[in-house]
Amino acid sequence: MNSPVVLITGALAGIGRATALAFAKEGARVVVSGRHDDAGAKLVAELRSLGAEAEFVKTDVRIEDDVRNLVDKTVARFGRLDVAVNNAGTEGQPGVVTDTSAEKYAGTFDTNVLGTLLSLKHEMRVMLAQGSGSIVNLSSVLGRVGMPGAAVYVASKHAVEGLTKCAALEGAAAGVRVNAVSPGPVETGMLDRFTGGSEAAKAGFLAAMPAKRASTPEEIAQAILFVASDKSSLINGQSLAIDGGYSVQ
Ligand SMILES: NC(=O)c1ccc[n+]([C@@H]2O[C@H](COP(=O)([O-])OP(=O)(O)OC[C@H]3O[C@@H](n4cnc5c(N)ncnc54)[C@H](OP(=O)(O)O)[C@@H]3O)[C@@H](O)[C@H]2O)c1
Repeated sequence: MNSPVVLITGALAGIGRATALAFAKEGARVVVSGRHDDAGAKLVAELRSLGAEAEFVKTDVRIEDDVRNLVDKTVARFGRLDVAVNNAGTEGQPGVVTDTSAEKYAGTFDTNVLGTLLSLKHEMRVMLAQGSGSIVNLSSVLGRVGMPGAAVYVASKHAVEGLTKCAALEGAAAGVRVNAVSPGPVETGMLDRFTGGSEAAKAGFLAAMPAKRASTPEEIAQAILFVASDKSSLINGQSLAIDGGYSVQ
C-alpha cells in the first residue's frame, strides 16, 4: 500500500521510536503517541525531516478517553487507519511472586493488558468499518515461557498473546489482521531497568541467550514492518519470535 496511515503507541523511546522512524523512511504517514509533549514534538520534527507526514497525539494507553481520542484524531487528520502498532509497555516492578502486590499487578497490567485491549477496541472500531487494517501487538518471548522473578510481566505478555488471537479471529472475515511480535532482550531502557541498571547483570543475562546479544530496536522495527505489511497478507493471529532462537531451546 502507498503511504499507509500508521499509528504507534509508546512511540517516544525504544522500539516504538525505531518503528516510527522505519515507517517514515518507507513513506508512511505516521501518528506517534506517548505521554510527553516535548519528546512528541521532537519526534514529529525528526519524522518530518525524513519527508514523512507526521503528527503527535498525547496518549496514556491506560485511559480510554485518551485512546479513543488518539484513534479519532488519526482518522480526522488522515481519513483512515491502515496499521496500528500497540507498543506501549512497562516492565513494572519485577520481583518474586511472594513479594508482589495488587498495586504492582495493576502497575503492569493496566498498561500492558488494559492498554492493549483499549487500543485494539478503538483501532478495530475503525478498521472493521473500513474493511481493512493490520495491527501488531508487542508481546515478548516471555509471553510463551516463564521466568522466575518476573511473574507479573510474564503473565501480562501471556495475556497479550491471548488478546492477539481473539482479536485476529474477530477481524479475519472483515479483512483486519492482528498479530504480535515477541522479542527476546532488546537494547532499550527497559532492558537496562529489567537487569537492575547493572552492566554485569545485563552481560550475564545476555550470555545465556543463544545469540549472546540483545537485538537492536531497529531489528524489531523491521519485523514489525513486515508483519504489518501486505507482504504478510494471510498471516493472522500469530506471534513472531525475534529472539535469536531463545524460545526454541
Ligand atoms: N526491551 C526489551 O527487552 C523487550 C523485550 C520484549 C518485549 N518488549 C516490549 O516492547 C515494548 C516496547 O518496549 P521498549 O523495550 O521499547 O521499552 P522502553 O524503551 O521503556 O519504551 C516503552 C515506551 O512505552 C511508553 N509507555 C509506558 N507506559 C505507557 C502508558 N501507560 N501510556 C503510553 N505510553 C507508555 C514509555 O513512555 P514513558 O516514558 O511515558 O513511560 C516508552 O516510550 C513493550 O511493550 C515491551 O514490553 C521489550
